[in-house]
Amino acid sequence: MKLSICNQLPFQSTGRTIVKNNNRTYETDLGYLSAGDVIFSNYTSFFRGYDCSLFFNQWNSLMNLFYEKFKDAKKVNFYDFGCSDGSEACSIAIALKETLGDRSEKFFPIKAFDGDEYIVEQAKSGIIDADKRDISNITNFTFGKLEKYFNVNKKDDNFEDYPYTLKSKDILSDNIQFAKGDFLSELDNVEKSNSIIFCRNFWPYLSPEYIDKVLLKLEENLDQSSIVVIGNFDRTTPNTAECLRNLGFREIKHNVFSK
Ligand SMILES: C[S@@+](CC[C@H](N)C(=O)[O-])C[C@H]1O[C@@H](n2cnc3c(N)ncnc32)[C@H](O)[C@@H]1O
Repeated sequence: MKLSICNQLPFQSTGRTIVKNNNRTYETDLGYLSAGDVIFSNYTSFFRGYDCSLFFNQWNSLMNLFYEKFKDAKKVNFYDFGCSDGSEACSIAIALKETLGDRSEKFFPIKAFDGDEYIVEQAKSGIIDADKRDISNITNFTFGKLEKYFNVNKKDDNFEDYPYTLKSKDILSDNIQFAKGDFLSELDNVEKSNSIIFCRNFWPYLSPEYIDKVLLKLEENLDQSSIVVIGNFDRTTPNTAECLRNLGFREIKHNVFSK
Protein backbone atom coordinates (compact mmCIF):
# COMPACT_ATOMS: atom_id res chain seq x y z
CA MET A 1 0.00 0.00 0.00
CA LYS A 2 1.25 3.46 -0.80
CA LEU A 3 0.19 6.26 1.46
CA SER A 4 -0.33 9.67 0.08
CA ILE A 5 -2.10 11.41 2.93
CA CYS A 6 -0.31 13.08 5.83
CA ASN A 7 -2.10 13.28 9.16
CA GLN A 8 -1.19 15.22 12.25
CA LEU A 9 0.77 13.16 14.72
CA PRO A 10 -1.49 12.43 17.67
CA PHE A 11 1.30 12.12 20.25
CA GLN A 12 4.69 10.72 20.86
CA SER A 13 5.73 8.65 23.83
CA THR A 14 9.02 7.02 24.72
CA GLY A 15 10.33 7.40 21.22
CA ARG A 16 7.64 5.19 19.69
CA THR A 17 4.95 6.88 17.73
CA ILE A 18 1.51 5.57 16.92
CA VAL A 19 0.51 6.83 13.53
CA LYS A 20 -3.01 6.54 12.20
CA ASN A 21 -3.28 6.67 8.49
CA ASN A 22 -6.69 6.17 6.95
CA ASN A 23 -7.54 2.53 7.21
CA ARG A 24 -4.43 1.25 8.91
CA THR A 25 -2.75 1.94 12.21
CA TYR A 26 0.86 1.12 12.66
CA GLU A 27 3.72 1.92 14.92
CA THR A 28 7.05 3.36 14.04
CA ASP A 29 10.09 4.04 16.15
CA LEU A 30 11.52 6.66 13.81
CA GLY A 31 13.22 9.06 16.15
CA TYR A 32 12.96 12.07 13.87
CA LEU A 33 9.29 12.73 14.49
CA SER A 34 8.12 14.95 17.29
CA ALA A 35 4.64 15.68 18.56
CA GLY A 36 2.68 17.97 16.26
CA ASP A 37 4.81 17.26 13.19
CA VAL A 38 3.13 16.32 9.97
CA ILE A 39 3.92 12.65 9.64
CA PHE A 40 5.83 11.24 6.75
CA SER A 41 4.18 9.72 3.76
CA ASN A 42 5.44 6.68 1.88
CA TYR A 43 4.14 8.05 -1.40
CA THR A 44 6.41 7.20 -4.32
CA SER A 45 6.21 6.27 -7.98
CA PHE A 46 8.37 4.86 -10.76
CA PHE A 47 10.76 7.31 -12.43
CA ARG A 48 9.58 10.07 -10.13
CA GLY A 49 10.78 13.61 -10.57
CA TYR A 50 12.47 13.53 -13.94
CA ASP A 51 10.83 13.42 -17.31
CA CYS A 52 11.04 10.01 -18.94
CA SER A 53 9.31 10.68 -22.23
CA LEU A 54 10.88 9.08 -25.27
CA PHE A 55 12.23 12.30 -26.71
CA PHE A 56 13.48 14.10 -23.64
CA ASN A 57 14.69 11.55 -21.21
CA GLN A 58 16.15 13.06 -18.07
CA TRP A 59 16.68 9.66 -16.40
CA ASN A 60 18.98 8.67 -19.26
CA SER A 61 20.90 11.91 -18.96
CA LEU A 62 21.26 11.44 -15.19
CA MET A 63 22.75 7.98 -15.68
CA ASN A 64 25.11 9.32 -18.35
CA LEU A 65 26.19 12.05 -15.95
CA PHE A 66 26.97 9.39 -13.31
CA TYR A 67 28.94 7.41 -15.87
CA GLU A 68 31.07 10.42 -16.83
CA LYS A 69 31.58 11.53 -13.24
CA PHE A 70 32.74 8.06 -12.15
CA LYS A 71 34.52 7.08 -15.36
CA ASP A 72 37.79 6.34 -13.55
CA ALA A 73 36.28 4.66 -10.48
CA LYS A 74 36.43 0.87 -10.25
CA LYS A 75 33.43 0.74 -7.90
CA VAL A 76 30.63 3.23 -7.23
CA ASN A 77 28.67 3.03 -3.97
CA PHE A 78 24.99 3.65 -4.65
CA TYR A 79 22.71 4.45 -1.70
CA ASP A 80 18.98 5.11 -1.83
CA PHE A 81 17.69 6.56 1.46
CA GLY A 82 13.95 6.84 2.12
CA CYS A 83 13.40 4.23 -0.59
CA SER A 84 9.76 3.52 0.37
CA ASP A 85 8.30 0.43 -1.36
CA GLY A 86 11.26 0.06 -3.75
CA SER A 87 9.84 1.90 -6.78
CA GLU A 88 12.75 4.35 -6.67
CA ALA A 89 15.52 1.76 -6.33
CA CYS A 90 13.96 -0.30 -9.15
CA SER A 91 13.78 2.83 -11.33
CA ILE A 92 17.46 3.51 -10.68
CA ALA A 93 18.44 -0.09 -11.48
CA ILE A 94 16.39 -0.11 -14.70
CA ALA A 95 17.76 3.29 -15.72
CA LEU A 96 21.35 2.15 -15.12
CA LYS A 97 20.88 -1.08 -17.06
CA GLU A 98 18.98 0.44 -19.98
CA THR A 99 21.27 3.47 -20.31
CA LEU A 100 24.69 2.00 -19.58
CA GLY A 101 24.32 -1.72 -20.36
CA ASP A 102 27.40 -3.67 -19.16
CA ARG A 103 29.01 -0.42 -18.03
CA SER A 104 26.43 -0.26 -15.21
CA GLU A 105 27.91 -3.22 -13.28
CA LYS A 106 30.14 -1.15 -11.01
CA PHE A 107 27.10 0.79 -9.70
CA PHE A 108 25.53 -2.35 -8.18
CA PRO A 109 24.33 -3.40 -5.67
CA ILE A 110 22.12 -0.45 -4.81
CA LYS A 111 21.83 -0.25 -1.02
CA ALA A 112 18.30 0.94 -0.29
CA PHE A 113 17.08 1.98 3.18
CA ASP A 114 13.87 3.20 4.71
CA GLY A 115 13.17 4.02 8.35
CA ASP A 116 9.66 2.57 8.21
CA GLU A 117 9.76 -1.13 9.01
CA TYR A 118 6.42 -1.82 7.34
CA ILE A 119 7.39 -0.33 3.98
CA VAL A 120 10.85 -1.99 4.06
CA GLU A 121 9.21 -5.39 4.45
CA GLN A 122 7.09 -4.57 1.44
CA ALA A 123 10.15 -3.51 -0.55
CA LYS A 124 11.94 -6.73 0.41
CA SER A 125 9.00 -8.78 -0.87
CA GLY A 126 9.64 -7.36 -4.35
CA ILE A 127 5.93 -6.79 -4.85
CA ILE A 128 5.00 -3.23 -5.77
CA ASP A 129 1.57 -1.71 -6.37
CA ALA A 130 1.55 0.25 -9.61
CA ASP A 131 -0.79 2.68 -11.30
CA LYS A 132 -1.24 3.31 -15.02
CA ARG A 133 1.38 6.05 -15.06
CA ASP A 134 3.95 3.71 -13.48
CA ILE A 135 3.24 1.12 -16.16
CA SER A 136 3.53 3.64 -18.97
CA ASN A 137 6.72 5.18 -17.54
CA ILE A 138 8.44 1.80 -17.28
CA THR A 139 7.17 0.73 -20.71
CA ASN A 140 8.31 3.98 -22.35
CA PHE A 141 11.65 4.01 -20.62
CA THR A 142 12.48 0.42 -21.57
CA PHE A 143 11.01 0.60 -25.09
CA GLY A 144 8.40 -1.99 -24.19
CA LYS A 145 10.48 -4.28 -21.97
CA LEU A 146 8.29 -4.11 -18.85
CA GLU A 147 8.30 -7.90 -18.56
CA LYS A 148 12.09 -8.10 -18.70
CA TYR A 149 12.00 -6.57 -15.20
CA PHE A 150 8.64 -7.58 -13.69
CA ASN A 151 5.95 -10.21 -13.61
CA VAL A 152 2.83 -8.12 -14.13
CA ASN A 153 -0.48 -8.91 -12.48
CA LYS A 154 -3.67 -6.97 -13.21
CA LYS A 155 -5.88 -6.79 -10.11
CA ASP A 156 -9.63 -6.85 -10.29
CA ASP A 157 -11.42 -3.61 -11.06
CA ASN A 158 -11.96 -2.65 -7.40
CA PHE A 159 -8.34 -1.51 -7.10
CA GLU A 160 -8.71 1.73 -9.01
CA ASP A 161 -5.74 3.65 -7.58
CA TYR A 162 -3.20 0.89 -8.11
CA PRO A 163 -4.71 -1.59 -10.55
CA TYR A 164 -1.46 -3.55 -11.10
CA THR A 165 0.99 -5.52 -9.01
CA LEU A 166 4.57 -5.80 -10.19
CA LYS A 167 6.84 -8.58 -8.91
CA SER A 168 10.53 -7.80 -9.43
CA LYS A 169 12.47 -10.36 -11.42
CA ASP A 170 15.99 -11.50 -10.44
CA ILE A 171 17.59 -8.90 -12.70
CA LEU A 172 16.34 -6.33 -10.16
CA SER A 173 16.25 -8.22 -6.87
CA ASP A 174 19.80 -9.58 -7.34
CA ASN A 175 21.05 -6.01 -7.66
CA ILE A 176 19.18 -4.18 -4.88
CA GLN A 177 19.63 -4.74 -1.12
CA PHE A 178 16.76 -3.42 1.01
CA ALA A 179 17.19 -2.83 4.75
CA LYS A 180 15.58 -0.85 7.53
CA GLY A 181 17.77 2.17 8.18
CA ASP A 182 17.55 5.70 9.44
CA PHE A 183 19.13 8.28 7.11
CA LEU A 184 21.17 10.05 9.79
CA SER A 185 22.51 6.85 11.38
CA GLU A 186 23.33 5.20 8.06
CA LEU A 187 25.36 8.22 6.95
CA ASP A 188 28.03 6.95 9.36
CA ASN A 189 28.38 3.82 7.22
CA VAL A 190 28.63 5.35 3.75
CA GLU A 191 31.86 5.22 1.77
CA LYS A 192 33.53 8.64 1.68
CA SER A 193 34.57 8.41 -1.98
CA ASN A 194 32.72 7.54 -5.17
CA SER A 195 29.33 7.46 -3.49
CA ILE A 196 25.93 8.48 -4.83
CA ILE A 197 23.44 9.41 -2.12
CA PHE A 198 19.82 9.45 -3.30
CA CYS A 199 17.79 11.14 -0.50
CA ARG A 200 14.70 12.38 -2.26
CA ASN A 201 11.35 13.73 -1.17
CA PHE A 202 11.47 13.39 2.60
CA TRP A 203 13.52 16.35 3.91
CA PRO A 204 10.39 18.40 4.81
CA TYR A 205 9.42 15.65 7.30
CA LEU A 206 12.67 16.04 9.26
CA SER A 207 13.12 18.29 12.27
CA PRO A 208 15.54 21.27 12.04
CA GLU A 209 17.82 19.61 14.64
CA TYR A 210 17.91 16.38 12.66
CA ILE A 211 18.64 18.28 9.43
CA ASP A 212 21.57 20.13 11.03
CA LYS A 213 23.09 16.77 12.02
CA VAL A 214 22.53 15.33 8.54
CA LEU A 215 24.21 18.32 6.91
CA LEU A 216 27.19 18.02 9.22
CA LYS A 217 27.57 14.34 8.31
CA LEU A 218 27.25 15.00 4.59
CA GLU A 219 30.02 17.55 4.94
CA GLU A 220 32.29 15.33 7.02
CA ASN A 221 31.58 11.88 5.59
CA LEU A 222 31.74 12.60 1.85
CA ASP A 223 34.62 13.83 -0.25
CA GLN A 224 34.62 15.68 -3.56
CA SER A 225 34.12 12.55 -5.63
CA SER A 226 30.66 11.89 -4.18
CA ILE A 227 27.21 13.08 -5.24
CA VAL A 228 23.97 13.91 -3.40
CA VAL A 229 20.60 13.77 -5.19
CA ILE A 230 17.47 15.39 -3.72
CA GLY A 231 13.86 15.69 -4.98
CA ASN A 232 11.64 18.62 -5.96
CA PHE A 233 9.68 18.30 -2.69
CA ASP A 234 12.97 18.91 -0.83
CA ARG A 235 13.25 22.40 -2.31
CA THR A 236 10.25 23.61 -0.26
CA THR A 237 10.85 23.81 3.51
CA PRO A 238 13.67 23.37 4.16
CA ASN A 239 15.16 24.52 0.88
CA THR A 240 17.64 21.65 0.81
CA ALA A 241 19.29 23.00 -2.34
CA GLU A 242 20.21 26.17 -0.46
CA CYS A 243 21.41 24.19 2.57
CA LEU A 244 23.69 22.11 0.35
CA ARG A 245 25.04 25.18 -1.45
CA ASN A 246 25.83 26.74 1.94
CA LEU A 247 27.86 23.61 2.71
CA GLY A 248 29.93 24.14 -0.42
CA PHE A 249 28.08 21.74 -2.74
CA ARG A 250 27.53 22.81 -6.38
CA GLU A 251 24.35 21.93 -8.27
CA ILE A 252 25.74 20.18 -11.36
CA LYS A 253 22.28 19.24 -12.67
CA HIS A 254 18.81 19.99 -11.32
CA ASN A 255 18.70 18.41 -7.81
CA VAL A 256 22.16 16.81 -8.24
CA PHE A 257 24.95 18.12 -6.01
CA SER A 258 28.69 17.63 -5.91
CA LYS A 259 31.30 19.25 -3.65
C1 LIG B 1 7.56 10.48 0.35
S1 LIG B 1 8.48 8.99 0.42
C2 LIG B 1 9.62 9.23 -0.90
C3 LIG B 1 10.12 7.94 -1.47
C4 LIG B 1 11.14 8.08 -2.60
N1 LIG B 1 12.41 8.59 -2.08
C5 LIG B 1 10.63 8.97 -3.68
O1 LIG B 1 11.18 10.06 -3.89
O2 LIG B 1 9.67 8.59 -4.35
C6 LIG B 1 9.51 9.25 1.85
C7 LIG B 1 10.08 8.00 2.47
O3 LIG B 1 11.16 8.39 3.30
C8 LIG B 1 11.12 7.63 4.49
N2 LIG B 1 11.82 8.41 5.52
C9 LIG B 1 11.44 9.60 6.02
N3 LIG B 1 12.35 10.04 6.89
C10 LIG B 1 13.34 9.10 6.95
C11 LIG B 1 14.55 8.99 7.68
N4 LIG B 1 14.93 9.94 8.50
N5 LIG B 1 15.31 7.90 7.48
C12 LIG B 1 14.92 6.94 6.63
N6 LIG B 1 13.78 6.97 5.91
C13 LIG B 1 12.99 8.07 6.07
C14 LIG B 1 9.64 7.39 4.75
O4 LIG B 1 9.44 6.25 5.56
C15 LIG B 1 9.09 7.24 3.34
O5 LIG B 1 9.02 5.89 2.95
